[in-house]
Amino acid sequence: TKTFHIAGIPGDGIGPEVTAEGYKILKTIEQLDPSIAFESTEFPWGCEYYHRYGKMMDEDGIEQLKKFDAIYLGAVGYPGVPDHISLWDLLLKIRKSFDQYVNIRPIKLLEGVTSPLRAEYSDIDMLVIRENSEGEYAGAGDRLFQGTPEEVALQTGVFSRKGTERIIRYAFEEAKALNKSVTSISKGNALNYSMVFWDEVFEEVSRDYPDIPTHSYLVDAASMFFVTDPARFEVVVTSNLFGDIITDLGAGLTGGLGLAAGANINPEKTYPSMFEPIHGSAPDIAGQQKANPLAAIWSISQMLDFFGEEAWGKKVLEALEQTIADGDTLTPDMGGTATTAETGTKVASYLEEIAGK
Ligand code: NAD
Ligand code: IPM
Ligand code: MN
Repeated sequence: TKTFHIAGIPGDGIGPEVTAEGYKILKTIEQLDPSIAFESTEFPWGCEYYHRYGKMMDEDGIEQLKKFDAIYLGAVGYPGVPDHISLWDLLLKIRKSFDQYVNIRPIKLLEGVTSPLRAEYSDIDMLVIRENSEGEYAGAGDRLFQGTPEEVALQTGVFSRKGTERIIRYAFEEAKALNKSVTSISKGNALNYSMVFWDEVFEEVSRDYPDIPTHSYLVDAASMFFVTDPARFEVVVTSNLFGDIITDLGAGLTGGLGLAAGANINPEKTYPSMFEPIHGSAPDIAGQQKANPLAAIWSISQMLDFFGEEAWGKKVLEALEQTIADGDTLTPDMGGTATTAETGTKVASYLEEIAGK
């Protein structure tokens, strides 16, 4: 039996509700396939932990996580703890400490999902490769002359050659494997240092892949094309902040945040990678069993792929698609009346059915 060790961080708000459904899927796989086992250890870190102990995670938390094969995270951040503290001391700390520099976010319109776009533009299937370790999220900056009329806040973007080149190269490798085009999204006209550099590196790296079609858009125009003509995007590579924003936009076009998944990958496997839905803790619906667990379940599918269990990853995605196509057991954000747990159970039962065939 292959045993995969998972560190679970349910986190805040709807985080525990949606990840519980992810575990339901893993349990189902264990029952169906005796050759696989998942051992998960739960870490109660997050905003409640902060209120109790004055910190978001244990001091040696990063050390504790190192030995796991993967991290499964719900969401971090809740009213009562300033967001820049909760996020920097837990979620962003993990992404950075473990050099999870690739953030893979599929933006795909699944069967049965109604896009707010016109039907003729419903062909949406892109893979956004977001830089996840530096850029606008480098955390460099300063607050000067606080409390005076001359007050200034500085936030410095850091775009290293190593960091920029590796993410762009990753996108080209992905496009090569999938036989798709690569689109870079940047903003060289206004960000006259960082994004001019980004565009140069994109140009350089693209020369190593002469057979792969490329496009380059400014982020403002790209945002419009996401809405008017999403089919033109296949593999998309972009910076940390732009990737954050356009993937919520993409989620909005493909069923909402309840359905959008993401993987934070350390490709070298020096450190564990982390799987999480791209949504946050949704304080407006937390604790009410209203949250859609499908994004968290999709992240489980990404985790299975990462473990080399692609056949199971594919089946989980199929079960998820069947749950949507069936339409009877969906949460309110998708027009249904089902609870979070009922939706997860439905996916698990489709998974049993698919695996039994
Ligand atoms: P959010 O993603 O939590 O919620 C935005 C909207 O989408 C809300 O109306 C919410 O109800 C809805 N929504 C989100 N996930 C849903 C789901 N699974 N099912 C149904 N509806 C869902 O974003 P926000 O409100 O801007 O942020 C809330 C908190 O979460 C903040 O503290 C923020 O910093 C944090 N946050 C954390 C992460 C993360 O941990 N990865 C991501 C985004 C935001
Ligand atoms: C995301 C989130 C995070 C990000 C926040 C919570 C720091 O919005 O994962 O998309 O900006 O990366
Ligand atoms: Mn985001």
